[in-house]
Amino acid sequence: MCGIVGYVGERQALPILLEGLKRLEYRGYDSAGFALQGPVDFEIKRNAGPVDGLVEVSKGLGLTEKEGIAHTRWATHGAPNETNAHPHRAGEIVLVHNGIIENYAEIKERLTASGVKFSSQTDTEVFAQLIEAKRSRLAEDSPGANPETTLIAAMKAAMAEVEGHYAIVLMSRQIPGKLYGIQNGAPLVGSTLKDGALIASDLQAVIPHHNEVSFLPKGEIFIADRDGIHCAGLKVEKIDWTADKVEKGGYESFMLKEIFQQPMVVADTLTGRLPSDPKSPFIWDHQKAHEVLWKNVKRLYLVACGTSAHAAMAAKYFFERWARLDCQVDIASEFRYRDPVFEPGTVVGVISQSGETADTLAALRLANERGVSTFSICNVPNSTIARESSFQYPTKAGPEIGVASTKAFTAQLTVLCALALDVGRLRGIQSARDTEQESFLGLARLPQDLDHILSRSEEFIRIGETLGKQRIILFVGRGTMFPIALEGALKFKELTYLPAEGFAAGELKHGPIAYIDPEVTVITLAPKDEWYQKTVSNLEEIRARGGHLITLGTEGDRVLEGLSDSFIGLPSAAWGTAPILSAIPLQLLAYGCARALDRNIDKPRNLAKSVTVE
Ligand code: F6R
Repeated sequence: MCGIVGYVGERQALPILLEGLKRLEYRGYDSAGFALQGPVDFEIKRNAGPVDGLVEVSKGLGLTEKEGIAHTRWATHGAPNETNAHPHRAGEIVLVHNGIIENYAEIKERLTASGVKFSSQTDTEVFAQLIEAKRSRLAEDSPGANPETTLIAAMKAAMAEVEGHYAIVLMSRQIPGKLYGIQNGAPLVGSTLKDGALIASDLQAVIPHHNEVSFLPKGEIFIADRDGIHCAGLKVEKIDWTADKVEKGGYESFMLKEIFQQPMVVADTLTGRLPSDPKSPFIWDHQKAHEVLWKNVKRLYLVACGTSAHAAMAAKYFFERWARLDCQVDIASEFRYRDPVFEPGTVVGVISQSGETADTLAALRLANERGVSTFSICNVPNSTIARESSFQYPTKAGPEIGVASTKAFTAQLTVLCALALDVGRLRGIQSARDTEQESFLGLARLPQDLDHILSRSEEFIRIGETLGKQRIILFVGRGTMFPIALEGALKFKELTYLPAEGFAAGELKHGPIAYIDPEVTVITLAPKDEWYQKTVSNLEEIRARGGHLITLGTEGDRVLEGLSDSFIGLPSAAWGTAPILSAIPLQLLAYGCARALDRNIDKPRNLAKSVTVE
């Protein structure tokens, strides 16, 4: 969480910093601030609230400096106010930070006892003061020493004391023309430009300037100056994202754009991977290694958080049925602190849009440390999770900027559906219920089917607009529709801030049915699949208790139409692709309700896109 931007070069820094912050705002928007290296002193401006507020207060200041750092904050330590906004100044240095300093309290106590005065409640200021305390002591001990040597020694000494995952970028009054920083478990991307150097927490802020970037290596201090980025072990990589991929492109929000990109994203994700017939192998990046991995697998753990965990839950049905593989789904924040059993033949797959989620990364590292084969399904090329997993099955969703995940979810499900079909084939399984062939064909026509559903977007948005007054919205489904119900509820609550819960349809009578009255809407996913009749019975039970019913079913289903207050008929879909298609109306229902309530669609309150803290 939190977004960092730093620029040093020949152009005015402020517009570059503010534009970069806008692009990183999905990482947090509790406050924003910048510091510029001025002729007399640092020019520091901080503001509570989103970046637009900072843009407003910096208008007309005439700041033309060519070196600066900036930050957009997702509050961890201390309230989201101006005092706690970054950058934080300590003596000669000013610093921005992403991540968490776990032992900040004890360091703060020590520094306070030695006379250091703190002005904020943040762990960031503790880091800044620690570096400054060490720097000034070293400078006192060796008065003639080069200020850069002293600063770097101080940074190293401070790093040795702080615990946690973080990234920092700082400037020193004594060393104009240079930015310094460290990536220690929270990503930083750097790029050497024609006229200077740019540093940012994520590709989105760098790509509009240059597509040759370096993911800064962990634990190494880097220096950025007019000539570029200098750091041990730096590798330059070309990224095939273009600037237009990080623009709204005429849509009123990134989320809406991303919902509408889903046919294209699914097509991109399948291109080059889908074989011409269902009996042939899917094509993956490391074909031989892929085959060896899956031929020997005995148990699969799929581990993820939030929306990505819902994709994992749906995939459990695929792997069990098509590959007859013991598949367990785990929430990463639980998995990392359990003692999972890793027997020979265990494979751990982690799923993450950002590839930076702290809990998912920790789960991956746990598996790696225990010598288990790992793979990742990530959307961000070269993200930490992608790099640290043994195999990668990337999604090709392109940058996802709306905080609520949409296209990354459908791309994850697409990869998982293809992978499970392929693993079943590799293991020579012919499942008893024989849904492979139709699901293979369903994958091939998925982009067209998604297009067709999206052509009805206004209908789904309108239904969503009617939901703002309900006391609670329940989302219900069975089988592969259960994880989609959970995802529908998650989208709804994060976008609208209204209570919403997802349940397995069979669980309703074990408690949640107590909710039901006319102010409760139950949105049920009931396609004509093998669980259909049972779900219809559950709907009857809700109807009998006066619940308001919205049902998503197969087009032309008169029974459901008769039972429901609103019926959304969807084209009949293959077993494996029905969950992907059913997710779309739920995204649009949540969007419609949130828009009617005037919520911030792309940046729902309290959330951040990339959750790099526990
Ligand atoms: C919800 C959402 C989150 C993420 C979760 C994991 O719309 O986006 O629940 O799915 O924070 O993030 P990634 O997939 O980046 O690991």
